[in-house]
Amino acid sequence: MQTADLDTDLSLFKYDNLSQLPPAYRNLDAEDRERRIEAALAELGDDVVILGHNYQRREIVEHADFIGDSYQLSKEAAESDAEYVIFGGVTFMAESADIITDDDQQVILPSMEASCPMAGMAEALQVDSVWAKLTAATEETVIPICYMNSYADLKAFCAEHGGLVCTSSNAADAFEWAFERGDKVLFLPDKHLGTNTAHDLGLEDDTLVWDPWADDTDPKEIRENDVILWEGYCQVHERFRADHVEAVREDHPEANVIVHPECRREVVEAADRVGSTADITRAVENADPGETWAIGTEIHLANHLDRWHPDVEVLPLCGDACMDCNAMRQIDPNYLLWVLEELVEGHEQNVISVDPAAADRAETALDRMLEL
Ligand code: 13P
Ligand code: SF4
Repeated sequence: MQTADLDTDLSLFKYDNLSQLPPAYRNLDAEDRERRIEAALAELGDDVVILGHNYQRREIVEHADFIGDSYQLSKEAAESDAEYVIFGGVTFMAESADIITDDDQQVILPSMEASCPMAGMAEALQVDSVWAKLTAATEETVIPICYMNSYADLKAFCAEHGGLVCTSSNAADAFEWAFERGDKVLFLPDKHLGTNTAHDLGLEDDTLVWDPWADDTDPKEIRENDVILWEGYCQVHERFRADHVEAVREDHPEANVIVHPECRREVVEAADRVGSTADITRAVENADPGETWAIGTEIHLANHLDRWHPDVEVLPLCGDACMDCNAMRQIDPNYLLWVLEELVEGHEQNVISVDPAAADRAETALDRMLEL
């Protein structure tokens, strides 16, 4: 067991060389801050593009040039020619943007604390240390697939072992790609997205959730299953329960229920639709006036959709119990102002720069996804 050694090498914040918010930016008047953000943006012009994930706070998405899911934002980053890409999102998203943007572009993640806990549940160091255990249990070929919500070194690991990256909108295609090249899939880190994808492909009886740190997995179980899922999950989406769907149907019989595929299997089964944050956004955009949509994902997106589509009744699936993502919340407007004003002064703060060796291989895994 190598956990003790690994613990010393894993950090909560992947880029702990990034800077904290200076005291002068900690208590700002909201109106004054808005004025200063606008002034800095006017000064920086086309040098800067701001990308905002659907889960970002209102004060961030209101300044974003593009708002979208993690896949759309990486594509926007790739297409942008701005010198600075300010990423309103979490570390793994900023890393992917750094990998696919040109070398002369810099990706800035305003807050160093915006790290997705699920991405930290399967770090390359951990996966590498148990890969031998997995592959020793079977003579069949295992292809690793990692969810976009993972760090660059895990993406690199997947590329090295013949695998690729996927997002919540193309996981089934990625599984099919892998089964054309191997016999088994190791999917990580999200066991719920993995379970939901296996169901879509009729592989639910061939699926094992594997906790590599528990010593009780019988190697026979690995041999007998074709889809091996890493024991990881998103704590925001795990919170949704099938009885939340029942309750919303009781109170709003006309409601359409749409949930993210990071939700548990029973929640997805109880819902009417499942999709990425971009699919959820499109469903509400395309709704007829007067329709009701209950949204099973991070609370900020439900709130944005409610604000953006006053003709549609938008309900958070579990009411006040719906959670915001603590990692996404770390990007606050004070940080945004700070990194912008620093750029005006010619200083680059909190640049995410992936190690070039890992970046090259991670790019291969991302390219395989983009070619699906
Ligand atoms: P999307 O790829 O659907 O935007 O989801 C990212 C995410 O972090 C969901 O929790
Ligand atoms: Fe990570 Fe969940 Fe937050 Fe998405 S919502 S960034 S998976 S913790």
